Amino acid sequence: MKLTKEEQELLDGKHGNAVKKSMEILTTLGEIFNAEDMVDVVGVQIAGVSYDNLGEAGLEFLNEMAEDGKIRVLTTLNPAGMDRENWQTLGIDEEFAKNQNRAIDAFAKMGIITTCSCTPYLIGNAPHFGQYLAWAESSAVCYANSVIGARTNREGGPSALASALTGKTPRYGYHLDENRHGEVLFNINASVIGTDEFGVLGKIIGDKLGEVGKKIPYITGIPSATVEELKSFCASVATYGGVALFHMENITPEFDKYPKPNEISFEISKDDLDKTRSELIDKESEIDFVSIGCPHASIHEIASIAKLLEGKKVKKEFWITTARPTKKIADEAGYSKIIEGAGAKFAADTCCVVAPIKGRFKGIMVDSAKACYYGRAKNKFKVKIGTIEECIEEAIK
Ligand code: F3S
Repeated sequence: MKLTKEEQELLDGKHGNAVKKSMEILTTLGEIFNAEDMVDVVGVQIAGVSYDNLGEAGLEFLNEMAEDGKIRVLTTLNPAGMDRENWQTLGIDEEFAKNQNRAIDAFAKMGIITTCSCTPYLIGNAPHFGQYLAWAESSAVCYANSVIGARTNREGGPSALASALTGKTPRYGYHLDENRHGEVLFNINASVIGTDEFGVLGKIIGDKLGEVGKKIPYITGIPSATVEELKSFCASVATYGGVALFHMENITPEFDKYPKPNEISFEISKDDLDKTRSELIDKESEIDFVSIGCPHASIHEIASIAKLLEGKKVKKEFWITTARPTKKIADEAGYSKIIEGAGAKFAADTCCVVAPIKGRFKGIMVDSAKACYYGRAKNKFKVKIGTIEECIEEAIK
């Protein structure tokens, strides 16, 4: 692998141990994937932030890197296991809170912005078309590659941290034009509206790609999509199909840059959407928890929730998961007062999947197909998908 003089110095330890170790991680990765050289990244997003995922071994690695490591590019974190300000209200135990704070403190020591969000592109860690990144969260990686047209592989926690401390990543995978072509054509013969429905569509496409062993869908038949619908779609298609890049005709920026796959491989109908939706609703589930914000809620979504909750009271545990900067905008706009006045809770910088709430509730209602997957798989909840309006109706019932 070709290294510049500067990169060789980083590897030789002239800039400290954490940088040396980081370059060792990145050059090893580059050799495994036959990268010819390194590229400079403009932003990093690190996953594996919850103490639930890190454990003591992960924390030890972070502390070692924090001894002399300092970030060289803008770096934010994926959701942590708790809201650092509001953890007691959310029922998180003290021991977990202590350990989670130890992890965040190690990240902060390296200069990492300790806002923890899976939607970094909504809070200022926002690349533009064609820029290189080292992001780790699967839904954000899919959004960056597909919706923004930036370029990132799906990094692991250590490789993302290594990029943060060096500003480099090996050039392979989605950094290269040759790996960004659409492979399987999906034509959507139905109207798809709302975050829940885009999540359902993501599950259909993800499942089908799993069957044919391909990863890059080219999608036609969607006339328009909002940021919120696309972020939900990204989370779902990444969860169910491991997709890190898709093209959507007339919507995503690279849809006409590469040849369109020439056969319609799959036609998706309203019946397919209905059938898959029903797979995301467990029969006879007792819902005692409602959560919106997977991926993290945008200010648009919070504004809609405030409008729907005005003058009402929730009767079930209801979390809105979002990034703290978005919550601050909601505070200033008066949305938080309405939402909290109705008895709903903000869970800032965390989410119902990474928080330690396994088994605490019987059934969860969400507008996210990804949250259904992890609600079942990780937290052992029954699940029910619905629109944001239906989630609110369930919460106040
Ligand atoms: Fe984000 Fe947690 Fe969903 S990390 S995408 S809110 S599972």
